[in-house]
Amino acid sequence: MNFPSTRLRRLRRNYNLLDLVSETRLTVSDLVYPIFVTFGAGKKVPIEPMPGIFQLSVDQLAEEANEIKSLGIPAVLLFGIPEKKDSAGSRGIDSKGVIQQAIRQIKAEVPDLIVITDVCLCDYTDHGHCGVIDGDTVDNDRTLNLLAEMSVSHVEAGADIVAPSAMMDGQVGAIRRALDSSGHSMAAIMSYSAKYASGFYGPFRIAAESAPQFGDRSSYQMDIANRREAMIEIQQDINEGADITMVKPALAFLDVLREARDRFDTPIAAYNVSGEYSMVKAASQNEWIDGQRITLEILTSIKRGGADIIITYHAKEIASLLS
Ligand code: PBG
Repeated sequence: MNFPSTRLRRLRRNYNLLDLVSETRLTVSDLVYPIFVTFGAGKKVPIEPMPGIFQLSVDQLAEEANEIKSLGIPAVLLFGIPEKKDSAGSRGIDSKGVIQQAIRQIKAEVPDLIVITDVCLCDYTDHGHCGVIDGDTVDNDRTLNLLAEMSVSHVEAGADIVAPSAMMDGQVGAIRRALDSSGHSMAAIMSYSAKYASGFYGPFRIAAESAPQFGDRSSYQMDIANRREAMIEIQQDINEGADITMVKPALAFLDVLREARDRFDTPIAAYNVSGEYSMVKAASQNEWIDGQRITLEILTSIKRGGADIIITYHAKEIASLLS
């Protein structure tokens, strides 16, 4: 493979040739669109750091789900913002809660849109942590029951896939057992397996009103410095019954994603998180970058890095550019 017999520019002569030999194809069927569902009615509240993204009340979801479906996006990931928060996050488990209503609404309107739900306490707790508090720490094992109950309530409302994101040890196993013993053995689990304690979640916490009121999440989410530990997290989740595993955030952790892809055979999701979205939007609003071009570059990189599924706030705006 030496010059001059090898000339890699031969296949770069025009866009048709480039397209013919392209190694990575981003398609709309790879994408999952996150939705923030809020209590009340008639609400479409803009989220300031995430231009184009809104908190929607349940009555807005029929239109939203139809639009998503018509764009060819196969799945949504739901987050709930309850009217009241308490120390145990009990609104998250309520069968009439905002998320349970949202699931029913979407499934009634567009039954074949895949509904994935985030399973975590932080949206529902007044202290903003992902589990129940004992003194100044999050109690792992007491949280497991609540995550399991929350998962069952989501599936009973119609969710296809539950996505535990609390980073409690044993959460996937606890949820699998609870689903199986309540007659939901076909409900799938997408685990946020390698979820890092990241600054990139800042805009999300404004969107979901879920910032921790004291301390941070470093006693349960992963240290950003660690790659091998992520492999243990993913392996454990697979052992406990995860159907899909996840690396999150995506862009600053592409090495972790690649290693996971090379080691494991589950479908792997990557979450192109809120901070990644906000940075692109802020820079493109200033016309410092070409937002659409950068978005396609980022999402293609995430796919090239090994993701089968990409969760992204950009899904709606780029769907029509993809096949
Ligand atoms: C819930 C959860 C978070 C995100 C997804 N699920 C916030 C957090 O852990 O603080 C972040 C998603 C994003 O930033 O887009 N635990």
